[in-house]
Amino acid sequence: MLRVEDITHSYKSGNEWTSVLHEINFSVKKGEMVALLGSSGSGKSTLLNLMAGLMKPTEGHIYIADQDIVKMGENKLAEFRRKNIGFIFQAYELITSLTVRENVELPLVFQSVSPRARKAKALALLEQVGIPDKADLFPSQLSGGQQQRVSIARSLITEPSVIFADEPTGNLDSKTEEEIIGILLNLNRTMKTTFIVVTHEYKVAEQMQRIFTLKDGFLVTESQAKPQADIKLQKEPQLETQTEVQVEEQIAEEAEPQTMVEVEEQLAAGAEQEAVEPVPQTAGADEDPPAEEPEHQTAEEADPAEGGKP
Ligand SMILES: Nc1ncnc2c1ncn2[C@@H]1O[C@H](COP(=O)(O)OP(=O)(O)O)[C@@H](O)[C@H]1O
Ligand SMILES: [Mg+2]
Repeated sequence: MLRVEDITHSYKSGNEWTSVLHEINFSVKKGEMVALLGSSGSGKSTLLNLMAGLMKPTEGHIYIADQDIVKMGENKLAEFRRKNIGFIFQAYELITSLTVRENVELPLVFQSVSPRARKAKALALLEQVGIPDKADLFPSQLSGGQQQRVSIARSLITEPSVIFADEPTGNLDSKTEEEIIGILLNLNRTMKTTFIVVTHEYKVAEQMQRIFTLKDGFLVTESQAKPQADIKLQKEPQLETQTEVQVEEQIAEEAEPQTMVEVEEQLAAGAEQEAVEPVPQTAGADEDPPAEEPEHQTAEEADPAEGGKP
């Protein structure tokens, strides 16, 4: 489902070109969960950003579902990414002025899904990642691990064929790291989502089915596939694929064509609908959001292309 062919990448700084990836070749099957392991500066994020279509390589091809994303024009690539690719960042990259549920819904705001169906789906995913009670809170009211659960739910809402995660536990303590990796392993097992997880920690990488190791921009090893039984599974959360199916049906029923409109407007429309249909929710559902506006962040600013380069 994903094939990287002779990828070479150089960055230009001043008049100098620095080559950071050298003729990388590998492929990942549908439903696989693989790790991209390497020390800091080895080129992991560069490779991940190239595979996610966030930038173009100097040379080479990247095929996702048999389509070369390197050759795609800007508009086609943007649409392809929206439909097929999910991304999880080390620093979560949630929008501070939106609630947890609104953050999860965000990728669907640009698609023809009704506000009601969008909301139902976001709530189902929040349940799947184990934080159904946090839907109406703001990101600043959550712990790091909870924020990463929100970002995982957000990455899943478009049902992408592949999810890229760049050091998803890099900002978390080791207990929370285990929980988050456990969630990703469970999602891969139950939803058959393909995952490519970047990490510099062997103890994270070894839980995946295969490990690709990068060193100074070279792909140095590819480990054997791990037998499924060896994969360490964490207890939580309980995954209910049935809910997903129900939500899909609902969306099929309710989807109505929508033009691209402003995120806030769309979400406001969802909120109006809420007023007519009270939804059983736990504490806080009917409370007003905090009065003060946190520094405003647009969807543009939250674009992965702009995010998190150290
Ligand atoms: N935007 C950039 N411009 C110039 N050099 C960069 C840029 N991004 C990364 N690099 C360099 O490319 C190399 C690989 O970086 P990166 O892909 O971020 O590695 P990793 O994610 O493994 O830490 C590093 O030497 C880094 O300094
Ligand atoms: Mg990195």
